[in-house]
Amino acid sequence: ENGVYKFFYDGVWRKSSSGKSVTIINPTTRKPHFRVQACTQEEVNKVVETAKLAQKSWAKTPLWKRAELLHKAAAILKEQKAPIAECLVKEIAKPAKDAVTEVVRSGDLVSYCAEEGVRILGEGKLLVSDSFPGNERTKYCLTSKIPLGVVLAIPPFNYPVNLAVSKIAPALIAGNSIVLKPPTQGAVAALHMVHCFHLAGFPKGLISCVTGKGSEIGDFLTMHPSINCISFTGGDTGISISKKAGMIPLQMELGGKDACIILEDADLDLAAANIVKGGFSYSGQRCTAVKVALVMESVADTLVEKVKAKVAKLTVGAPEDDCDITPVVTESSANFIEGLVMDAKQKAATFCQEYKREGNLIWPLLLDNVLPDMRIAWEEPFGPVLPVIRINSVEEGIHHCNASNFGLQGCVFTRDINKAILISDAMETGTVQINSAPSRGPDHFPFQGLKDSGIGSQGITNSINMMTKIKSTVINLP
Ligand code: G3P
Repeated sequence: ENGVYKFFYDGVWRKSSSGKSVTIINPTTRKPHFRVQACTQEEVNKVVETAKLAQKSWAKTPLWKRAELLHKAAAILKEQKAPIAECLVKEIAKPAKDAVTEVVRSGDLVSYCAEEGVRILGEGKLLVSDSFPGNERTKYCLTSKIPLGVVLAIPPFNYPVNLAVSKIAPALIAGNSIVLKPPTQGAVAALHMVHCFHLAGFPKGLISCVTGKGSEIGDFLTMHPSINCISFTGGDTGISISKKAGMIPLQMELGGKDACIILEDADLDLAAANIVKGGFSYSGQRCTAVKVALVMESVADTLVEKVKAKVAKLTVGAPEDDCDITPVVTESSANFIEGLVMDAKQKAATFCQEYKREGNLIWPLLLDNVLPDMRIAWEEPFGPVLPVIRINSVEEGIHHCNASNFGLQGCVFTRDINKAILISDAMETGTVQINSAPSRGPDHFPFQGLKDSGIGSQGITNSINMMTKIKSTVINLP
């Protein structure tokens, strides 16, 4: 019995008055592992109002002081990497080494954000009026960036720490306060991370973390009139949030069906290595995972053989043993993945390995000769299953990529840089990687999706800018 982890607001760890908890099931053992508070709407009200109050004085805190606290939090986070990573292993079955990497990457992100923030927020603009027709130089316009207020951060289960700090750090450096609603799987890792910020000495009320059931507090939070910005990463829920949210800036990163186009002149070893890394790391549970390989027919046999050989080397098992493939996050997720696999089987896709599942653990599976009538050609499994579609022209590949309702990232493998650029221009995705698998990082790069993949752009600089508003003061000369 681990007890029930408390939630955090106004600088204090608290029990919910609901007397209820939410259970976190360990994906590997499929047994209850942790419990967190099931907060009530009344508690959400208190949290948001406290955040609103704390933000007012934080906005007046000098930028360098805000940065100093963030640097402190980053250092503490890195010191605490082992216990936080341990939670990631137990809550989301992230392989042990990747779990540590997530925490270290998060510390680096927080520090970078502090540095970037003091620079971009330390600059304003001066405009003069006589550049616009009919004006003399009688007006001087001073602009600076001011905070939005209370930022609501909702990260997903696959990076409960990293995708939380990628919202928290830009919000704080820009002078906002934070209400964090972590995913259920990953909530305890997120609470540990919040504790690091608490230890760094941020003012009371500035950072809060509420846990609970989406059905009870989800809409209540996202539609709360005192929330001034929502930064969300996750699935379809983001679409409904964006329809219900008020007139506030939204930053959304939703699903993806990242295509990997392999041309005839590609370095096939490089392509195969990236397909396996891109398709199967963290068992395919990344929005930037390679989710469909579109391969020119003439090189398809060779490429598939190379990928198969690498898939055979992937280790499958427990996250504690640092296996490459670990159990997917929930049983319902495993069932969904299995549904896609069965559909492909019924429609005669070529199975490069035998389909195998034990509990939430699904062995890596490459499906060749996938056709457009199969669900796996379009839907994201968020699991270790990768479809290969054979194409006869580059246009066919681009067409498949652009027919998707998603548009997060894509990648192209070719030795011809001119072709690569043309293909990148033609792909309707937020980013195209040339000769590498899709990925969000380095974390200061812009990160955005088109169509159902999102709203706005992330990455450290873009997030800081997004979490501010321009304020002008105009000096009028007589
Ligand atoms: O799935 C979340 C997305 O942000 C992926 O990040 O670093 O795995 O490319 P990354």
